[in-house]
Amino acid sequence: MTKKLHIKTYGCQMNVYDSARMADVLAPLGYTIAAAPDDADMVILNTCHIREKAAEKVFSELGRLKSLQSRKARGGGRMILAVAGCVAQAEGAEILARAPYVDIVLGPQTYHRLPEMVAAATRAAGGVLDTEFPVEAKFDFLPAASTAPGVSAFLTIQEGCDKFCTFCVVPYTRGAEFSRPAAEVIAEARRLLDRGAREITLLGQNVNAYHGRGAEGDDWGLGRLIRALAELPGIERIRYTTSHPRDMDAELIAAHRDVPALMPFLHLPVQSGSDRILAAMNRRHTAADYLRTVETLRAARADLALSSDFIVGYPGESDADFQATLDLVATVGFAQAFSFKYSPRPGTPAASAEDQVPEVVKAERLSRLQYLLERQQRAFNESLVGTMQPVLLERAGRHSGQLVGRSPFLQPVHASLPAVLVGAIVPLRITGAEPNSLAGELPAAERVVA
Ligand code: 5AD
Ligand code: SF4
Repeated sequence: MTKKLHIKTYGCQMNVYDSARMADVLAPLGYTIAAAPDDADMVILNTCHIREKAAEKVFSELGRLKSLQSRKARGGGRMILAVAGCVAQAEGAEILARAPYVDIVLGPQTYHRLPEMVAAATRAAGGVLDTEFPVEAKFDFLPAASTAPGVSAFLTIQEGCDKFCTFCVVPYTRGAEFSRPAAEVIAEARRLLDRGAREITLLGQNVNAYHGRGAEGDDWGLGRLIRALAELPGIERIRYTTSHPRDMDAELIAAHRDVPALMPFLHLPVQSGSDRILAAMNRRHTAADYLRTVETLRAARADLALSSDFIVGYPGESDADFQATLDLVATVGFAQAFSFKYSPRPGTPAASAEDQVPEVVKAERLSRLQYLLERQQRAFNESLVGTMQPVLLERAGRHSGQLVGRSPFLQPVHASLPAVLVGAIVPLRITGAEPNSLAGELPAAERVVA
């Protein structure tokens, strides 16, 4: 008997990956994915705790789901409600206390135990709480992916973080750093490629801290792993996210120079351009260290485009500190970026700092920073107009006869092309630039051939 499973995913790519794995472990129990929660037999909220009132959003979503759950019960059915992800990890007990109609609360390390939790929840009246940290077990017990990966696939190689940036919940919600053995990663990559993936994005909370066991029991860094993956038949593109500047080692930078499949786009969060704030954040690098790393990377791969994360209004941030961030942005020139107002996360050191920055100041700084970053992104997009770019075509676009793909720099590219080209890497002439995407077309000569 098939049952309907609806998963709502918040936050990062790791959560997207985890949601797909949860769907995989539940498939043998007869659960198939439903697009809407209305009539589902099970709903999972895969939550994110990193910024802003995350828990409150979860509680209001749960309130809505509760009425669907009651409606289903009135009709004689049962809707199992589960809360997964980082809010579950951080506030599991509170969820069960405030929303007793939730059946399962599970942290990111226990997804492989979902089937037994579903069985337990079906029997038990109260909710089931499972937010332990046995990280090694998780990957051993997850089945090989059953849902088709698509042209561009994610592969988690590392989880957790030991960096303890003072603003961040990840070390508490995702636990200590753990890297999967290289052989396991390579086996999963092979399976993805066999099933049609052409691009693989390696994921981890701090992915360039990767230190996995190699074939001979030796230690492999990310650079070595990327070289090995680049040898696999069928792999066209490799990306990785997200990285810490401190872990950008020589071997990884050399991979950017030597491995053509490693795409020339790197997300390397810097958070701030002020050394005082970087020290307070426990980032363990200075602005100059970051600039040096960028320079070395660009020396290795001249066309490398950079992306970053920024936090404005960290406790104690002065006008001069903020100016240093603007200066760093002007020096580097980013192709893309994410920027956020500092948001105190309960339990993290910065949350209890006395010198919190007023909301209006944060808002004003954020809009100034975003103005600059958007200008840089636009300039970067426009600089590609008229060039030829290899575009990996991923799926149908919104308009009929249109496909969407990605440039080497991760920009979405729209083009009028036949659907048979999904999965192909096609050289397109870039004809237009929007703030967040490009337009492309097959050059005339290719069109005759096609
Ligand atoms: N407040 C604002 N932004 C945050 N980030 C992480 N924690 C916080 C916080 N407490 C941002 C950082 C990180 C990105 C994933 O989210 O910039 O790199
Ligand atoms: Fe959080 Fe990233 Fe710092 Fe780790 S390195 S504590 S994940 S911001």
